[in-house]
Amino acid sequence: MTHNVAYQGTSNNFLSFILYCSTNSIDHHFTMASEIAQAAEKLSISETVYVDEVSGCDAQGTGAENAPFKTVLKALEVKGEDVKIQIKKDDEGFKEISGAQMKKAKKTLAEQKKKAKRLEEQKLKQEADLKKKQEDEAKALEYAKSIVLEEDKSLPAAEKIKIRDATQNRTKRVKVSGWVHRLRVQGKDMMFIILRDGSGYLQCVLTGKLCHSFDAITLTVESAITVYGVINELPEGKTAPGHHELVADYWEVVGKAPSGEDAFNNKVTPDADPSYLLDNRHLVIRGETVSAVLRARAEVIKNFRAFYDQAHFTEVTPPCMVQTQVEGGSTLFAFNYYGENAYLTQSSQLYLETCLPSLGDVFCVAESYRAEKSHTRRHLSEYTHLEAEMAFISFDDLLDHLENLICFVIDRTLADEKTAELVKQLNPNFQKPSRPFLRMKYADAIKYLKENDIKKEDGSFYEFGEDIPEAPERAMTDKIGRPIFLTHFPHEIKAFYMQKDPSDRRVTESVDVLMPGVGEIVGGSMRMDNREELLQAYGTAGIDPTPYYWYTDQRKYGTTPHGGYGLGVERFLAWLLNRYTVRDCCLYPRFTGRCTP
Ligand code: 4AD
Repeated sequence: MTHNVAYQGTSNNFLSFILYCSTNSIDHHFTMASEIAQAAEKLSISETVYVDEVSGCDAQGTGAENAPFKTVLKALEVKGEDVKIQIKKDDEGFKEISGAQMKKAKKTLAEQKKKAKRLEEQKLKQEADLKKKQEDEAKALEYAKSIVLEEDKSLPAAEKIKIRDATQNRTKRVKVSGWVHRLRVQGKDMMFIILRDGSGYLQCVLTGKLCHSFDAITLTVESAITVYGVINELPEGKTAPGHHELVADYWEVVGKAPSGEDAFNNKVTPDADPSYLLDNRHLVIRGETVSAVLRARAEVIKNFRAFYDQAHFTEVTPPCMVQTQVEGGSTLFAFNYYGENAYLTQSSQLYLETCLPSLGDVFCVAESYRAEKSHTRRHLSEYTHLEAEMAFISFDDLLDHLENLICFVIDRTLADEKTAELVKQLNPNFQKPSRPFLRMKYADAIKYLKENDIKKEDGSFYEFGEDIPEAPERAMTDKIGRPIFLTHFPHEIKAFYMQKDPSDRRVTESVDVLMPGVGEIVGGSMRMDNREELLQAYGTAGIDPTPYYWYTDQRKYGTTPHGGYGLGVERFLAWLLNRYTVRDCCLYPRFTGRCTP
């Protein structure tokens, strides 16, 4: 590049130089000649840069003939504009670049430089603006620290209320504590907070000085606060939860939530990976949808209890640690119980049966455990199992009872305004099923599958005696589109304790309740009440009867016809609230590989 500077890179300059030399005195000729020689030498090595548009490389090329650039633009950018360019466009070898192409490339380079300059200027301006903003914010924060909010003691004392009681406390001065569910700052003098206290949502409006304190300026979503003021009904046309808002006269922070990267809204985003959301379920449950499901769940369980209460059932609380299986050994969670084998209960059924002579009809709402390897959307490792047992009933009594139970709970859930709202929020298209429910025998289901071309994976049809797995069962249920009582399963595919149908001993007096979208939500049956038959059934199932002595005794000390069922609460909720998976219907789901948090 030095020689380019010496000659300003133009051959015209060099010609003038030669002309100048030739017209000067002879004394100088020797010196001039040597300068000419040097200049000529410099010119002869004046840089020639090679560009090969076919196989050159802008990233790694040096401009040498054996390492050409790919573009003229790059050559000019790296080597400067005063170079000679030899360009190769095809197989014909390097040629001097045309004047037009050189001109065009220089123009483009100039435009690029201009643009880069503009961008640099913009960047500097943005940096300066940001710095100013940060300085202004720091100043504002410093100033805000000097603003101390104080409750005006001349106002009437504020009564502490829950948000659910907001309507009846309108126009009075109240104080409400909760978490900042949403926050909107409008200008310098107005803040809207949607406060959540678990009993509801309440819009609070902060104005003037209340928005200027350090706490106000740094307030974050999920901070816990207490707001004092008066709740007023909103004028027509304005909307807020409960159609009212709390106009604050004072407020205080109880516990602040972080800002920045750790801020709640950065941690919990709806599009996050499902397993990340499960790891953070302790935060996710604060959201509107999940909390609505959990609230509806509480109401539904309450309504199940209400059904049993009006039907005079007694609630019992059976043990969770057991030494017997109910639904097959393959799904047992085993553990060491002071040196003995024990399991987490699969079902409380056997214990409920023993309560009949003591308490009459009984029920329980208890956790059941299944070591399910299957990763389906309706299987949990721990689920809430609603089970009931009744003595002196027939199989038809059992089916009628089940239909009454389900309909009672739906009716009661929808009769309560707040719970009905939750159902509407989560499942706007929910339709109460019409009665009577469809009752279909297993044998007819096998026929249905054939008639509707629902086959096994290998293309063959299901035959009598085979278990109907989840997928075809759901295909049938979804096609029928209403609750089904599927009854009379062959005894080989059902649990050892099920009573055989006296009119067809190939099948049992058993029922699965199937719901569209979810499949089986209830499994029930009449129980074997003959001791000899039960002892034989243990043998067939390969069960050692010894630890079942107490269950067998039930058939010794005043046996009776009896039956019962188990309903998966999460499956019932998945159906009622239209949740994709049972995992969304419990507080902290447990399934294969998940025991956190
Ligand atoms: O059909 P299951 O296995 O029947 C029993 O346990 C009987 N001993 C109950 C009884 O008669 N007392 O289970 C009953 C219901 C199923 O219909 C389903 O709703 C639910 O329990 N259930 C599950 N829910 C979630 N995850 C699992 N892994 C479940 N396994 C069964």
